[in-house]
Amino acid sequence: MSTSPLRDYEAAFASMIGVRRAFGFWKGRVALYAILRGLGIGEGDEVVVPGYTCVMAVNPIMYVGAKPIFVDIEPVTYNIDPNLLAAKITPRTRLIIAQHTYGYPADLGAIQDIATRKGLPLVEDCCLALGSRYKGRIVGTFGIASYFSFQWNKPYTSGLGGIVVTDDDELAKRIELLCQKELIPPTPREVRMLRSQLVAYRTLVYPWTTAMAENIYRYLTRKGLVVGSSKISEFYPVMDADFFKGMSEMQALSGLRQLRKNDRVTAYRKAMMALYDELLAGRGWSMPVLPPDLDPVLVRYPIRVADKERALAKAAQRFIELGSWFECPLHPKETRLDAYGYHTGMCPEADRACREVVNLPLHPRTSEATIRRSVAFVIEAGLARADKVRVSVQPRTFVPTGAANRPVDKPRNAISIDVEDWLQSTIDPSLPLTDRFVQNTHLVLEDLESRGVRGTFFILGLAAEKAPGLIRRIQAAGHEIQSHGYGHQMVYTLTPAEFRQDLERSKKLLEDLTGHAITGYRAPAFEITLDNLWALDVIVESGYEFDSSVFPLRTFRYGIQNAPWYPHRLKTPSGYELLEMPVASCSLLGVRLPVAGGGYFRLLPYPIIRAGLQQLNRSGCGATIYLHPYEYDPIQFGEIDFTISWYRRLHQGLGRRRFAGRINRLLYDFPFGTMREAVDSLGDLPCYEHRVPDRG
Ligand SMILES: Cc1ncc(COP(=O)(O)O)c(C=O)c1O
Repeated sequence: MSTSPLRDYEAAFASMIGVRRAFGFWKGRVALYAILRGLGIGEGDEVVVPGYTCVMAVNPIMYVGAKPIFVDIEPVTYNIDPNLLAAKITPRTRLIIAQHTYGYPADLGAIQDIATRKGLPLVEDCCLALGSRYKGRIVGTFGIASYFSFQWNKPYTSGLGGIVVTDDDELAKRIELLCQKELIPPTPREVRMLRSQLVAYRTLVYPWTTAMAENIYRYLTRKGLVVGSSKISEFYPVMDADFFKGMSEMQALSGLRQLRKNDRVTAYRKAMMALYDELLAGRGWSMPVLPPDLDPVLVRYPIRVADKERALAKAAQRFIELGSWFECPLHPKETRLDAYGYHTGMCPEADRACREVVNLPLHPRTSEATIRRSVAFVIEAGLARADKVRVSVQPRTFVPTGAANRPVDKPRNAISIDVEDWLQSTIDPSLPLTDRFVQNTHLVLEDLESRGVRGTFFILGLAAEKAPGLIRRIQAAGHEIQSHGYGHQMVYTLTPAEFRQDLERSKKLLEDLTGHAITGYRAPAFEITLDNLWALDVIVESGYEFDSSVFPLRTFRYGIQNAPWYPHRLKTPSGYELLEMPVASCSLLGVRLPVAGGGYFRLLPYPIIRAGLQQLNRSGCGATIYLHPYEYDPIQFGEIDFTISWYRRLHQGLGRRRFAGRINRLLYDFPFGTMREAVDSLGDLPCYEHRVPDRG
């Protein structure tokens, strides 16, 4: 700890981003000015910026005498379009500025390539992106320098504030020198006013008061009664004599406090983003499909609406916090665009975004209830772009952080039993079924009955044919009966017609036997993957309503990486909807770990299984687990007349002796019921569509 809060803050911020140097300033725009001066950019130079930004991020370019060159944005992340960038570079170009709009990282790979090819430095405008990552690396570390802002509606606020970060010693030296020579301190009056404003902000500004507070703030700024974030003169632009101002101690101390909370706030923002995703997708909203390299921490949640003015007016009437930035390509709308050489039509995507994009709150005061209210408002106010509604959710990591992102009101765990015979299902599907599955299923039934638990039995058609009495006993004990298909042949070995036949045959057989509609299905070995999504169509067309065949992570045998791990409505390739109930998985150090049943229950330590299910339940999600009656059977490989590889012996044999005990422990530790009970307890569910990556 030094004696200067500013030095401490600079050091702490630099270390959080992972760079060596940081310099604090009065505002973000001042930070950019310092970078430009440090890079020696001046009269006659050109600086490339996105044509969809805040004018305060352009003014410093004009202040040093350079010319801003505007490049249009691409429509998904609202960031500079790298395909248009190279054409804008001339012999006078001295710098590229990549802004991470709303927190979406710009396409840094492509931009860096162009910058390197042209021998130009890159500066990142991270004012809206604290903690966002590109290809796993935090933004702010890709260029020669980056700058951040701590103004009111930024990732966190110290009233006003800005910071430069850099790893470039030469640039750091030049900025240091510049500050020694020219930087002025804020006046005591400015600092006092800013402190009072910060207190007022923390006590009075909530989502439902934001619009009113902004109006009052603008009015008081015009009257010179508060420290405004911008002056009218900055829309032309005119550089004030006291522009190059340093960060006050008060801002640094506030920043240090915010920094300590930043991990928590970031996790909260991400959970809220995921909740918006779910709720909006669930209501059929058109969702952006982001490139997989991006891991954004959004500062606001942008959406496109058909009639922005109406949306803003309605939101104000109903006290809904709906942001309007960017109102014009060089926000705000008071900007004299001609003074910057910008004319409408220069950047058509940016113009369109200004007409269409509003943004929803994501700051830490945004509760789950506010988000639900905001989404309901957006949907009920009929703001959707009717021509663009397309349902799909980007597979964002949905970090369970307690109640914040619960998809259901009351989590219901379901226990499911896949009734099949080990030899036939695992060794050779052409073999006849042995009686062992009947004895083993009785053992499972006894355990469930002794604990008073009812579960769901996914029954193989062949098993039902061989042991109809067993199926009746399962039904009589009050358990649910659903289909495991007919012949236990892997879906990928079947044609769509053969798969349809397998599904319909088992459904009819079980319906005749039980007198009940069979509406649920599980594939023999979770083998519905990106390679055979057609199977989802066949499942729906064969009359099934819910499915539990998509394993929510990729293993070497099955699964889809990043498939939702919570119940969802799954859009099939032909556009049907199927309710998907994935088996249980949890997040361990950011990695998905199956705690689903079967081999995982045999091989994983019990405390991990229990912690995994607890995590799922805490996030508001019920756990669906599965088991096979044969896992109750400490099989003797010597009794079997087949050559079985050592790997299979290990994989199939390990942990069988303790398996029944584990299941009993789970039934003791958690409440379980049937899949139908879990399905019926679900509220509004998000809709999801798997996209097959282009492998061409
Ligand atoms: C993208 C962007 N860059 C830079 C700035 C300037 O930051 P400050 O207001 O702290 O000067 C802003 C906003 O004001 C902004 O939105």
